Amino acid sequence: MQILVTGGAGYIGSVVCEKLHEQGHALFVIDDLRDGNKNALTPGAVFFESDFANAKLLDQIFSSNTIDLVIHLAASANVPDSVVNPLPYYQNNVSGTITLLQKMQAYGVKKIIFSSTAAVYGEPQFIPITESHPLVPVNPYGWSKLFDEQIIKDCAHSFGLSFYIFRYFCAAGATGAHGESRICESHLIPLAIDAAIGKRESLFVFGNNFNTIDGSGVRDYIHVEDIANAHLLCLNSPIDNWNKTFNLGTSNGFSVLEIIKATETIIGKELTFKIVDKRPGDPASLIASSDFAFKNIGWKPNFSLEQIIDSAYRWRMNPLY
Ligand SMILES: NC(=O)c1ccc[n+]([C@@H]2O[C@H](COP(=O)([O-])OP(=O)(O)OC[C@H]3O[C@@H](n4cnc5c(N)ncnc54)[C@H](O)[C@@H]3O)[C@@H](O)[C@H]2O)c1
Repeated sequence: MQILVTGGAGYIGSVVCEKLHEQGHALFVIDDLRDGNKNALTPGAVFFESDFANAKLLDQIFSSNTIDLVIHLAASANVPDSVVNPLPYYQNNVSGTITLLQKMQAYGVKKIIFSSTAAVYGEPQFIPITESHPLVPVNPYGWSKLFDEQIIKDCAHSFGLSFYIFRYFCAAGATGAHGESRICESHLIPLAIDAAIGKRESLFVFGNNFNTIDGSGVRDYIHVEDIANAHLLCLNSPIDNWNKTFNLGTSNGFSVLEIIKATETIIGKELTFKIVDKRPGDPASLIASSDFAFKNIGWKPNFSLEQIIDSAYRWRMNPLY
């Protein structure tokens, strides 16, 4: 297949591209490197360093290639920042996605796999969260992704776009070739590892009075390679099996304090942490039910929390970029 990947120089995008390349697909990547890394690009991919919503570039790509599928990962994705500074999130995630969809419609590109998030659910009303859980985001990032989901569904209805929407829970871990290498890291596992290996002084734990097992926030951590595999499983799915939305998580939740303990055990070092105020827009607990993805595309996670932390640790000790 000829596949256009937006955000292919980012953390999840680089692993998705790595796996697609292994299967022999021809890749076109758009990434403006605002949060990505040129060295994360899959060798052989045709790379455009640009905003994915660059209408002229999309004209050029779609008019001179037969693109079978768009995998749309590029987005602004920092929850606390989206609360303080919402407009760039709506601009990039919603407005940009509309431009991409307009160009897909204009050039008859009829398939999209879209990266959504557990943040569309907001504060859980029941756990584990199924795809039919009410959608009440508690931060602008979650709203921006929910708007995208609705726009994509409306396009499916109006011009026959076929979609898979994946609601990722907390992506983590590394492959041999790719891992989290953000300039400004905000994710717990890489930060905990950095605190344990002395790359940072300590770790902030945001809130200790959530209604959870130990008061700290609970999340469902899913290995980035498991996420990439879900994309592969969809590629050859018959068209009447498309137009579905799946959670991608493990159905296991771990609190921040449990992640700290597990990181200390795996690395064999204690880390210093400080409990600080809750961040606005952070739900207490997000744990997925991924039964629907298993029933429909046969997807299930293969990596344990220990494997996630261990792979992230190995990457952080020896990052390739
Ligand atoms: N990491 C997670 O835990 C997680 C969880 C749920 C959903 N997601 C979603 O998965 C996707 C990928 O996340 P990630 O963790 O790999 O993030 P990331 O920041 O590592 O990757 C995003 C990539 O998109 C690029 N990008 C952003 N806006 C762009 C634009 N306008 N034009 C071109 N490139 C642009 C960035 O440069 C970056 O390379 C995002 O859509 C995110 O919302 C991530």
